[in-house]
Amino acid sequence: MQAATAHNLPGIQADCGGLMTCGTCHVLVREPHASQLPPPHADELAMLDFTATPRQPHSRLSCQITRTPALDGLTVDLPATQYQCLVAQVFPVSKALASCMMSLQMRLILQTPVPSLTHADSNRLMQPNTGLQMILEIADIRIHPGQQAAFEEAIQRAIATVASTAKGFEGFKVNKGIESPERYVLQIFWTTLEDHTAGFRQGPLFPQWRAIVGPFFAVPPVVEHFELVAKSD
Ligand code: FES
Repeated sequence: MQAATAHNLPGIQADCGGLMTCGTCHVLVREPHASQLPPPHADELAMLDFTATPRQPHSRLSCQITRTPALDGLTVDLPATQYQCLVAQVFPVSKALASCMMSLQMRLILQTPVPSLTHADSNRLMQPNTGLQMILEIADIRIHPGQQAAFEEAIQRAIATVASTAKGFEGFKVNKGIESPERYVLQIFWTTLEDHTAGFRQGPLFPQWRAIVGPFFAVPPVVEHFELVAKSD
């Protein structure tokens, strides 16, 4: 990806700069090198579900291909199209990278019998400067129109049967958009950042999670993590 962007190669947008949140560096790797590449990890596979041109057998995100001597002569074909900037199609925003990052998102709904965070727990675990702060994951989700009811059932099922079983899962909230009815914001509290980024995202639960909620996504969710600064009593 870096080689392509450094030489202004048309067809590889790479809007996120390699953070695996845009899917605009999609390439089709030719043999014999396709079989020599390390297999894609869960995050790359998930992102390949959202490329503008549907995934093909040798589809890869070029930002995840590390150049090595063994890959000398690597040849890729470019897909028929790449997104110009998913967010720009959704929001009338400007700056390509910032806009794309903010626009590729997801969000969720509440009401679930699954582990939810109590106010007491929140106070205990999220007091600043106690060394007991949890990490807040926020995912901004945009789903296909008309699928709200099915998505809300699916996201609660995915929390109950998958996410809540992950190590470090502390609780969650899901909110749906009022002005934007296809938009949801999911908040999940994790004991540590690594509980989400490594334990969950790179473990066997993530494919199960995406199998349930992924089909509803109109664009890839954008996920970021936050630490507490201040809160109400
Ligand atoms: S550059 Fe965005 S996913 Fe590869």
